[in-house]
Amino acid sequence: MTVATQTPDIAAAKEKKSMTSATQTPDLEASGKKDGMAIVTHTPEAKANLNLETHIAAEGLSVWYRTTEAVKKVDMMIQKGAVTAIIGPSGCGKSTFLRSINRMNDLVPGCNVTGRMVLEGQNIYAPEVDVVALRQRVGMVFQKPNPFPKSIFENIAFGVRLQGISNRGRLSEIVERSLTRAAIWDEVKDRLTQNALGLSGGQQQRLCIARALAVEPQILLMDEPASALDPRATARIEDLIAELRGDFTIVIVTHNMQQAARVSDYTAFFYEGVMVEYGPTQQIFTNPRFKQTEDYITGRFG
Ligand SMILES: Nc1ncnc2c1ncn2[C@@H]1O[C@H](COP(=O)(O)OP(=O)(O)O)[C@@H](O)[C@H]1O
Ligand SMILES: [Mg+2]
Repeated sequence: MTVATQTPDIAAAKEKKSMTSATQTPDLEASGKKDGMAIVTHTPEAKANLNLETHIAAEGLSVWYRTTEAVKKVDMMIQKGAVTAIIGPSGCGKSTFLRSINRMNDLVPGCNVTGRMVLEGQNIYAPEVDVVALRQRVGMVFQKPNPFPKSIFENIAFGVRLQGISNRGRLSEIVERSLTRAAIWDEVKDRLTQNALGLSGGQQQRLCIARALAVEPQILLMDEPASALDPRATARIEDLIAELRGDFTIVIVTHNMQQAARVSDYTAFFYEGVMVEYGPTQQIFTNPRFKQTEDYITGRFG
C-alpha cells in the first residue's frame, strides 16, 4: 500500500502497512472500529461545537536549517475551529513546524521548506502567495509577551491601520472588540493611553492575543503562550483559548502535557522532527498507539 494517509490516523497507517485505503478525515466519528482497531471517539460536547473540516494540511512538509532536517515529512490535517496541541520534548521541531504554518521561517537565514502546507486549498509556499496577507490570516502569539513599547490602544490599532483603516471611531470599535475578545478589556479600558509595557506579564500576553485578533485572522498559532506566566495567568490564557475555540482554528505548542490535555481537541506528538502520532487528545493521552508516545506522556523522557 503506497498511499499515505494525512490524517490523525497516520500513526495507525504507519503501523498497519496493509491498510487498504487512505483516510482523508480524522476518526472522530463513531465508526467505532477501523481495520479492526478500536477508535476512541471524541466527546459529544466537543463534537457539537465543531463543524469539522480540514483547514490547513501539511503534506510531506520538511523544514531544513541548512543541511539539517528539523521537521521531517510531516503529513497532518488540522481541523477548522479546533484546538490542536503539539507536544514533544525540547528540540523536537514543535516551534519550527508551527512557524511553517505562516511562513515565519522565511525570516530565518538558511531555513528552507520542502513539501506543501495547504491552507483552504492553496499551498502557502506557492510563489504567488502574498506573505503579508498570509500572516494576517494566520496570526501568531509567542512564548514571551512582546507588546510594542506604545500605548495599549496603539498596540491593537497598529496592525489595523496597516490594513488601511484610519477612522478614529472605527479604530476605537476594533480596539474595544479585540480587547474584549481577549478577556482584558475590563482591566485596561480606563488606561488605554498608557504604555503596554506597564501591564503584568499575563495582561501583556492577553494584549498580544488581542493584537493578533484585531486583524481578524482565521488561524491563531501559539508557541508556549503561557510558559513564562504564573499559574493564575496561565489559567486565564487557557480559559481564553476555550473561549476562542470554534471561532478560530488554534494550534498551540506546549511542553506542558496537562495543558495540552486541558485545552486541545487534537494532539500531535513530535519526536526528533517526526510526527509520531496524531489524534483526538483523549485517545493520545489514554490510548496511545505508539510506545514512544506512551513513554513521553507517562513521563519516561522529555
Ligand atoms: N534558527 C535556527 N537555526 C538552526 N537550527 C535551528 C534553528 N531553530 C531551531 N533549530 C534546530 O531545529 C531543531 C528543532 O528546534 P525547535 O523547532 O525550536 O524545537 P522545539 O520547539 O520542539 O523545542 C533543534 O535541533 C534546533 O536546534
Ligand atoms: Mg519551541
